[in-house]
Amino acid sequence: MSDVKKLYIKTYGCQMNVYDSERMAEVMGGQGYVETKTPEDADMILLNTCHIREKAAEKVYSELGRFKPLKTAKPDLKIGVAGCVAQAEGEEIMLRQPMVDLVVGPQSYHRLPAMEAKVDAGEKALDTDFPEEDKFEKLKGRPKAQRGPTAFLTVQEGCDKFCAFCVVPYTRGAEVSRPVDRILTEARDLVERGVREITMLGQNVNAYHGAGPDGDWSLAKLIWALNDIDGLERIRFTTSHPNDMTDDLIAAHGECEKLMPYLHLPVQSGSDKILKRMNRSHTAESYLKLIERIREARPDILMSGDFIVGFPEETEADFQDTMELIRQVNYGQAFSFKYSTRPGTPAAERAQVDEAEASDRLKRLQALITDQQRAVQDSMVGREVQVLFEKPGRLEGQMVGKSEYLHAVHVAGAPVQRGDIGRVRIVESGPNSLAGELI
Ligand code: 5AD
Ligand code: SF4
Repeated sequence: MSDVKKLYIKTYGCQMNVYDSERMAEVMGGQGYVETKTPEDADMILLNTCHIREKAAEKVYSELGRFKPLKTAKPDLKIGVAGCVAQAEGEEIMLRQPMVDLVVGPQSYHRLPAMEAKVDAGEKALDTDFPEEDKFEKLKGRPKAQRGPTAFLTVQEGCDKFCAFCVVPYTRGAEVSRPVDRILTEARDLVERGVREITMLGQNVNAYHGAGPDGDWSLAKLIWALNDIDGLERIRFTTSHPNDMTDDLIAAHGECEKLMPYLHLPVQSGSDKILKRMNRSHTAESYLKLIERIREARPDILMSGDFIVGFPEETEADFQDTMELIRQVNYGQAFSFKYSTRPGTPAAERAQVDEAEASDRLKRLQALITDQQRAVQDSMVGREVQVLFEKPGRLEGQMVGKSEYLHAVHVAGAPVQRGDIGRVRIVESGPNSLAGELI
């Protein structure tokens, strides 16, 4: 038997989980684990979970059920639950699924090796603290493996906004910003390893206020510092709250050449009554004004957003306000969800909208968004874009990459490598991507 142990990680939910899964793989790499894509081969299975909507949490339990035969066949197999379901449900998970050996919250990943040792000693391991120590500092990566051309970099975690529907302030805790020097060191390291585009992540990334050499830095200041890193070509960030779109950040969209013209700015609803009940502390009008200012700074910016339909007490008229706001903004992309009751959040106590009605609204909203998305994408035909090539496409000789606007672009027969940026003329718009020719 070889000494190499195999780790299977499945990631649910947001991009921050994608980043965290990479860090967990690195930590367990230090314990002799290599990643596998097949759970059947694994010595350890980790589910990095999402708790944002009920369905997301339920998926974890059904997935765990699927692993039961593997555990029966191989009793040494360690099964762990990480992420926000781990944080929110803790010990409950082990009660509901006794085959789970370890439960680890998002702030405790650096302690995985000690938890594994505990499991080896025949105990269960649970760690869902919000420790003071900096997990990122302790999550130092493996030596210099080459990376693909794009990477996530978490700069901020947690949220203090307490939107009435949302579990994030409870599962991820209060807002914390990582210090500037650590972020810049990590960014330079990524670039040395081949990364050309960095997406800074945070549940409330534009509320970033990390300690810099000369006092706290804003996200805009951080963007400008990244802009100075040679070899880094593109900067993105997600996800933002309208109230934290400061003047310097809006200006950066017009002035900072490496900052890409794409902004994910969730509004959730277009009804002031609902926004108030959601505790969003902005109005539909203030959001629209904000977008006007952002578009003044960067006229071609592609707007993206999040919407919730069927929030408690949402009437058809409220919903129509949301549809009207969408018409006014004209989104290039958007994510929309039916309201999902999250226990422990303020909205969970309120009168719920009829399920069928909410489903119907979601359908109508998604149809409108799809039309807009498609029209924005179609309007790219004939235009020149810059594509950062990420991987070969399905067809022979084809490469796929992303434009500045985050559209996937296929280019056939192009003499380009992963990580190259090429000027491309868009010739065709398909259902989910564009096709173009290298200029
Ligand atoms: N129900 C439905 N959608 C939700 N979101 C957050 N909480 C809920 C909930 N309880 C959505 C919001 C948020 C996105 C990440 O998930 O739109 O912006
Ligand atoms: Fe949740 Fe609102 Fe915080 Fe976003 S801003 S993470 S929706 S509480």
